[in-house]
Parts: sequence; structure tokens; C-alpha cells
Amino acid sequence: MKTTIHGKNIVLGVCGGIAAYKSAELLRLLTKNGASVRVMMTRNAGAFVGPVTFEALSGKPACIDLFDRTDPDASIRHIEWAQEAHGVVIAPATASMVAKYAHGLADDALSTFLLAVTCPVVVCPSMNTDMYLSPPVQRNLEMLKADGHLVLEPGAGELACGTVGPGSLPEPPLILDRLTSLLTRKDLEGRKVLVTAGPTREPIDPVRFITNPSSGKMGYAVARAAEHRGASVVLVSGPTCLDDPPNIRIVRVRTAQEMARAVFEEMGDADVIVKSAAVGDYRVRETAAHKIKKTADELTLSLVKNDDILMALGERKTRQFLVGFAAETRDLQENAREKLARKNLDMIVGNLVGQPSSGFGTDTNRVTLFYPDGQAEPLEEMEKDAVAHIILDRVCGRLA
Ligand code: CTP
Repeated sequence: MKTTIHGKNIVLGVCGGIAAYKSAELLRLLTKNGASVRVMMTRNAGAFVGPVTFEALSGKPACIDLFDRTDPDASIRHIEWAQEAHGVVIAPATASMVAKYAHGLADDALSTFLLAVTCPVVVCPSMNTDMYLSPPVQRNLEMLKADGHLVLEPGAGELACGTVGPGSLPEPPLILDRLTSLLTRKDLEGRKVLVTAGPTREPIDPVRFITNPSSGKMGYAVARAAEHRGASVVLVSGPTCLDDPPNIRIVRVRTAQEMARAVFEEMGDADVIVKSAAVGDYRVRETAAHKIKKTADELTLSLVKNDDILMALGERKTRQFLVGFAAETRDLQENAREKLARKNLDMIVGNLVGQPSSGFGTDTNRVTLFYPDGQAEPLEEMEKDAVAHIILDRVCGRLA
């Protein structure tokens, strides 16, 4: 199972802005994710980053001129590339290209190509803040949105010109995420998906806590995949180092009790609940008000059991499709099946943790899906993004 972008034909349109250097990084990211990328650039883009860079990174000739006498097929490039593209990204999109595209002006290779495009287009405007906020640019961007294109908000901060404000090109991973979303089938449209992710922290004193090595990557992958598939997603997240996924409502929690409160508040109108968080099973009976000093030779902590959130969801659920996880170090089948039945789940994702390519902190996972009818579906090792989509494929198949 590959990611959504794998094998897709993407055309990257690069215009002449300082952010063109980031386009090279975006191109690298797209090809790393298995996309076949062609670059169409303006002459001015070449003043910032030369075509050789884009050709080396894409492994294909870049197109700058439709009247290149040394290339016999140059004059039909714009039509051929437009017909074969699954997605187009214009990054950076300068004020000039935004204006041309909004008004249908075709006076260079990229603007001519854009008029022939029928697949989804992501426009990433990047320019000086005053230029970006100017009425003509805003008007033109509104026109592009009305035409059905996805216009990404530029980042705000200090720009290369020294101005502080909106105008910088969003980071390449965000552009990739939005493009991927645009190209994903919307089979969870109109559904609310509630996901929990990451570890919990059970405080011992103001500077110490009990936790586990969960990175949150699996849960964040499920949340992103559900958003890409059109769901309205709420992510209840324990402390992680991961970036906030776009277009997802994030509720940040620390302890298992905080996670329980957030989950119960959100569960009512959820259609699907995926509990991938590694919840702390015990909390310290009494959290010390001040830092515990190392005066004693031995220290005993008294722990009390936290409520099992998933178990409570299994008891309270009405129409919600409930997916649990089972992180095991042995006897995966038995333990996963036992949790599936005991917690009244519709599916459980079992994985052996503590393996180099599976479990806590890794980018890949090897899991087996277990169902209430006794079926087990072992999956091969794959990226957590791909695992997330398979979980949601199975959920969608059973939701109907
Ligand atoms: N879970 C939960 N609340 C808890 C403990 C676990 O909601 N207090 C959920 C996890 O989010 C996961 C599932 O229960 O979806 C299984 O978690 P796991 O740690 O594998 O199992 P436990 O139920 O804690 O059982 P054990 O520790 O005995 O293996």
C-alpha cells in the first residue's frame, strides 16, 4: 500500500520569487513520496534557481519556453502535461502569475499551460506583505478561489525583504499535505472522526512525571488521513513533538483523566472513534506540591489505576464505530482478541511494540487488524500513513 501521492503525475509551476529555493525542497519531497513531477518554470524563476536544479531533482527536463527551437515537442508540452497531470502546484505564485491565471492571460509557458489544466490546482502565493494584501492581488486570489482552485494562505513572519507579515511560502510538508488532501477520495465527507494520540503524563511532582515512549505518529497519521478523506476531525493529543496537522481541531491534554474528559465531551456526535493513544494505566495517588528532594535512600510511589477510557467508550457507544489499539510485547493474537471483546470494540489494531520497524516512535508499523467476527488481517510492514488509510478503508467498508 502506497501513499495517495504515489505514482501521481504532478506539475510544479515555479515563478520568479525568492521562495523559489523552497520549490526545490518541495520537489524533493514530492518525488520522495513517489510522485512523478514535471517542472514548468517562468524565465524569472530561472534567475533564482536554475533549471538544472529542478531537472536533477525531478529527473526530467524542465519546461520554460514553448518556442524552444532545440526541443521539437516544446510547442505541445503545455497541452500534453495538462492532460496527463493529476495535480498542479504553483509555488511560489507571484502577483503576476496570480493575475494572469485569474484573468486567463496566456503569454508564457506556465500561464498557457494553466489554462489547459482540468485537474486540481494548489496556488501558493508568496510575495511582500504589502503586495499580498493589496486590493488587486486579493481580488485576483478571490477569483482563483471562485474558480475552484485551492489558494494556500501564505505564512506570516519575517520575510526576505525584512517586512513582517503574511507573504512567505508555506513549508513544503504543508503544501504536500494540502495537495495530498485535494487528491484523496472524500469517502468520510460529513462524518466526524475522533482520534486520540500520543502518551499521557502522570505527574509525580511539579518537575517529574510517569509516561511512555509513544510519539503520537500513528494517531496523527490516522487524523491526517481522515481529514484528507473529508471527515471533520478532532484530535485529542497527549504531549508530542509533532506539528499540528492542518484543518484538524486539536485538544491538548496531559493526563489520562484530562484525556478522558476531552474524549467524553467529543464522543456524542462522533461517527468513528480511533483510540491510538498510549494511555497511562496508573497515576500517582498524591502529586507532591513541591519538588521531591533526594533525602531518603528509597522512595515508594503509591499508584492508583486510571479509568480505562476505551472500555467506557465501549459501554457508552451508541452508533459510534470504535477502533482500539493493542500494544503488546508478546501473545499479540490472544491479547488483542481479549481486548476487542472485553472493551466492546468494532476493530482492534494489534501491534508488537519494541521492534525496530514497528511500534513506538517509528515511521513504519506492522500491524494486524482483528474484527469481532473472529477474522484477523495481518498487514505487511508499511509507513504509518499507509496503515492509517487501510484502517480507514476497513472502517468505511463497515460504516455503511
Ligand atoms: N486505553 C484507554 N484507557 C486506558 C488504557 C488504555 O483508553 N486507561 C486504550 C488505549 O488507547 C488502546 C487500548 O486501550 O486503544 C489498549 O491499550 P493497551 O495499553 O494495549 O492495553 P490496556 O487496556 O492498558 O491493557 P494492558 O496494559 O493490560 O495490556
